[in-house]
Amino acid sequence: MDNLDISNLFSVKGKTVLVTGGSRGIGLMIASTFVKNGAKVYISSRNAAVCQAVEAELSKIGECIAIPADLSTTEGQQNLVAEFNKRETSLDVLINNAGANWSAPFKEYPEKGYDKVMDINVKPIFFLTQAFLPLLKESASLETPARIINIGSIDGIRVSTIDNSAYGMSKAAVHHLTKILSVKMAGKGITVNAIAPGPFPSKMTKTMLDSAQAMVEKVNPMRRIGRVGDMGGIAVFLASEAGAYLNGTVIPVDGGMHLLAVM
Ligand SMILES: NC(=O)c1ccc[n+]([C@@H]2O[C@H](COP(=O)([O-])OP(=O)(O)OC[C@H]3O[C@@H](n4cnc5c(N)ncnc54)[C@H](OP(=O)(O)O)[C@@H]3O)[C@@H](O)[C@H]2O)c1
Repeated sequence: MDNLDISNLFSVKGKTVLVTGGSRGIGLMIASTFVKNGAKVYISSRNAAVCQAVEAELSKIGECIAIPADLSTTEGQQNLVAEFNKRETSLDVLINNAGANWSAPFKEYPEKGYDKVMDINVKPIFFLTQAFLPLLKESASLETPARIINIGSIDGIRVSTIDNSAYGMSKAAVHHLTKILSVKMAGKGITVNAIAPGPFPSKMTKTMLDSAQAMVEKVNPMRRIGRVGDMGGIAVFLASEAGAYLNGTVIPVDGGMHLLAVM
């Protein structure tokens, strides 16, 4: 009989986890939840000083290692992969979270904004996943699969009333890439799922929430924005034994906001 103890079913203890964009916001919520629960967590984002400060802070409660890199570039992706390979021979959980937004009306949406969101929201998920496959395969099995968790957005599910057309498009691409990879990887013992957050507090949402948090809370069916446990909890679930049979899913974590035609 399977070990159905809650402490076993939802455990991520001893797992090796990489969270891109783990230095703040949603990535930090996820990274800190894994560290707190006994995983060895690597974080990677551009600002080396912030990465190292997070490494120092999370190392007080567990294991956290920072590998700074600009993941929107091939060179930055290769640097992360090379540095990770120097330290580890396998990877249990890859969390593709790093991302950026750009808001502008469609008729004047600049190529610079389009390239920015596509280069960080989509391209590195494709190529980092490709590059980390050998290490994921080392921890993969049909019984206990390795996991890839992509961070999409409810803006990739429904059309936001905010002017961020390339961002929404990039997140729909993340969701579909998740489905494509889930079919290709499952037989190799790797599952691929996506989390589609609604509004959570972060640098990305600060300007919007500074002016409109009360309105966002009013329209949200649950009357609040997301918090650390909401995001850390779903990520841990997907990485744990309890989440082992989910594959190709896109899970909105938004209090039901994706069902509404506002925001
Ligand atoms: N917050 C929300 O309400 C919300 C809702 C839906 C989806 N999301 C998604 O959740 C993810 C995290 O967003 P967030 O809200 O936490 O935003 P955030 O606070 O701006 O954090 C973004 C993270 O990605 C890193 N990053 C950005 N560009 C990078 C690059 N070129 N190379 C490497 N790292 C880079 C940032 O660090 P550096 O700047 O130092 O590189 C930071 O760690 C994104 O994919 C976002 O689209 C967020």
